[in-house]
Amino acid sequence: MQKVLLISLLVLSQHAQAQVIDGKALFAKNCAACHQVGGTGIQGAFPALKGNAYIQGDPAAVIGTVLKGRGGMPMFASSLDDANLTLVINYIRQAWGNKGLPLRAEEVQAVRSQSGAGDVVEQANLTTVH
Ligand code: HEC
Repeated sequence: MQKVLLISLLVLSQHAQAQVIDGKALFAKNCAACHQVGGTGIQGAFPALKGNAYIQGDPAAVIGTVLKGRGGMPMFASSLDDANLTLVINYIRQAWGNKGLPLRAEEVQAVRSQSGAGDVVEQANLTTVH
């Protein structure tokens, strides 16, 4: 019994670890050019995500910002699916000492459908549109 518990704990923690790594990679690829790898942003141009109360607060607001973009920030509704958005948002909520509670893909899905931000555009569609 204890062994089973130990093994499931191990599997769980490896799963959580993998999510952090994926979130980090997604952040490096999609966000770090502006917000910087350390989440510090660039003063006067890109807000810091590290220590940012908004990032750690209301999940729906953060999801909406990343889905639809804002000001000089591009929208990600058409390039990141719900699973990847969940990973990258959970990463910024918890990286660099941030303490935001993690959210679930269902919450991202709900905000996406309510906001009318649209779905991920498949590569195939991208080529036929132009
Ligand atoms: C091209 C540059 C750029 C990229 C790439 C970018 N952002 Fe931003 N981001 C901005 C700017 C500029 C703002 C401030 C927008 C405003 O309110 O005027 C911002 C704001 C935000 C905010 C709101 C911060 C606050 O305090 O209100 C969040 C959350 C955020 N970005 C997350 C992300 C995530 C996650 C990614 C990657 C998936 C990303 N950003 C990619 C430029 C960028």
